[in-house]
Amino acid sequence: MAKRMNAALLLLLLRRLIIVPSMLLICVFCIWTVFGLAAFTVFSQSRHCTAQKCTSLARRWIVLSELKSSEAFPSNLLLKEQVLPSDGFGRSTKSTTTDHQQGAEDGDTVTDLEMEDAEAAGNNGHRRGDEEASLPLELKSLGFSGEKGNARRQMIENRVLGTGEEDVEDEDDDYGEDEDEADETQEDSRVIRPGLLRIMDELREHSRNEDNAVEEPSSSCSGKWIYSYNLPARFNADLVALCDRILPWYSMCDYFENSGMGKAVTTDRAGVLKPAGRWHKTNQYMLEVLFHARLKEYACLTDDPAKAQLFYIPYYGGLDVFRYHYANVSYEQKDELGVELMGLLEQHESWRRNGGIDHFLVLGKITWDFRRTDTEWGNTLLMLPGLENVTRLLLERDPWNANDVGVPHPTYFHPASDRDVEEWLHAVASSRRDALFSFAGMPRTTDSIRAVLIAICTSQPRLCRFLECSGDVCLRPESTTELFLASHFCLQPVGDSATRRSVFDSLIAGCIPVLFSQETAYVQYPWHLPARLADYSVYVPAEDVKSGTVDIARLLAAISPSRRRRMRRTIVTRIIPRLLYAAPAANLTTFRRDAFQVSITSLLEKSRSALAALESKL
Ligand SMILES: *[C@@H]1O[C@H](CO)[C@@H](O)[C@H](O)[C@H]1NC(C)=O
Ligand SMILES: *[C@@H]1O[C@H](CO)[C@@H](O)[C@H](O)[C@H]1NC(C)=O
Ligand SMILES: *[C@@H]1O[C@H](CO)[C@@H](O)[C@H](O)[C@H]1NC(C)=O
Repeated sequence: MAKRMNAALLLLLLRRLIIVPSMLLICVFCIWTVFGLAAFTVFSQSRHCTAQKCTSLARRWIVLSELKSSEAFPSNLLLKEQVLPSDGFGRSTKSTTTDHQQGAEDGDTVTDLEMEDAEAAGNNGHRRGDEEASLPLELKSLGFSGEKGNARRQMIENRVLGTGEEDVEDEDDDYGEDEDEADETQEDSRVIRPGLLRIMDELREHSRNEDNAVEEPSSSCSGKWIYSYNLPARFNADLVALCDRILPWYSMCDYFENSGMGKAVTTDRAGVLKPAGRWHKTNQYMLEVLFHARLKEYACLTDDPAKAQLFYIPYYGGLDVFRYHYANVSYEQKDELGVELMGLLEQHESWRRNGGIDHFLVLGKITWDFRRTDTEWGNTLLMLPGLENVTRLLLERDPWNANDVGVPHPTYFHPASDRDVEEWLHAVASSRRDALFSFAGMPRTTDSIRAVLIAICTSQPRLCRFLECSGDVCLRPESTTELFLASHFCLQPVGDSATRRSVFDSLIAGCIPVLFSQETAYVQYPWHLPARLADYSVYVPAEDVKSGTVDIARLLAAISPSRRRRMRRTIVTRIIPRLLYAAPAANLTTFRRDAFQVSITSLLEKSRSALAALESKL
């Protein structure tokens, strides 16, 4: 009896000893995983980060801890999983997606992030073969609709892509095992659905609404009126006049010519820049100048603030911050114009009415330049509480800020007519691509991924072409364009910041970008790049390249010619037209939705729905 009691007691004790601590351990583990690990990853990242990137990492940590205390707990988990750069889409889900794990073990880390949206559902069917079925959807974004649209689409498509089913260029250059079937099934198994940032979903939604909107007669400006404030010259024109003093060692004045498109290109020995006359030496920092020039031509500008749905603040904030990057001036001086701008805006009823929700700024720099923290770099423009509701179009956004929106870096090609666009698309689609992949850039530090990529590229001259950007080599439009037109894939590692102008130069030339950080494009350009990342890019986590886990050449060679062709088709028909900044006096109809127009319609939609949300709260 006593023995039995003892046994029972022992059992109880054992249970306590094992179960309670193990529960505790599990809890601790959960908490550690959710918060501690995030902090750890942020910390380990900071070893590599430049001043600008550190700001981004610091912000991320702030957001995570803010969310911790709010009710948005599930999205917190999502956020952590999705944006830490070292933690690739693939790896964060490895433990839960056995199929994917399989793929990863095969050395194949191309990941495919999909959105749970109608578009994805619509596309799934055709991915198994029927390529043509995808085109109407893709071309919808170019403004094709209905019967007439179909005939028109067919015409453009034939002209641009040729009437043949296959692109000739791909026929003979087969670098890997050409196993289409295997490729197809693998592709599906790689599909993972972590869902994108909620913010990205919202922004994409605006853009989709714009795409699906019933075409209004172009003569109607109803719902599209934009008012542009009349700011003193020191906010714009005077900054342009400083063009030779922005950089201490280099005059930027040439870039300001032709409304910010820059000087026209005069040398093109390779004859690749088609049509001649539409190519300029464009600098990406001219975004705000170029955008303003286009806006001046916008058909639905109004002088009456009471009539407008959207308000443009013509402050060249990018140039303002740029001129002080290398100058020894006080913080007060760096921040002066921003503070003054707030005072000016406060005087307007149109500003006070909605707290800035229906206003926008265009800043031709990266967001971190306007968020000075402990470094000397930049100003505090985007930290001004008064500007919190204003949408800012930027070359690089803070993915955590729904009012930061990344827009394409301006490239060299500025079409003036539909014919110009067609001619270029045709050149891209029919270009003969001899290199499997290429890289145009300069090595940064020796431990950077660039050094590794350059070593990989130069050791395989049969597969890869390397263009070293010494002197002004990479500032000459014909040299990079010629390279990108001749390559299937273009390596796009991060530089000083996560985004890279070269991503756009390569896309414009139909070269499929290979990205090593999610922040280079995936979380940047919700209005201009498709949500289905694998449709136009290849993602390889930088860590896998540095550690040698992934053999880039092998990985790219294993992508079948038919898959390459599909990606290029998406890029040509669906992406390029939306990345171009047409010349200010352009007359585009079929291709009227260029980078500028996509931004404007998305801004109108964003402003409209933000106001509707505000009203429903009142
Ligand atoms: C910057 O200017 C301040 C005074 O305006 C001066 O004391 C300081 O030495 C300067 N720094 C550099 C690096 O020139
Ligand atoms: C931003 O908008 C919100 C309403 O959504 C408003 O409460 C807030 O005051 C606005 N901020 C500013 C600086 O006006
Ligand atoms: C723009 O092009 C269309 C057709 O391509 C033409 O009908 C129209 O007159 C042109 N408008 C201008 C201002 O050139």
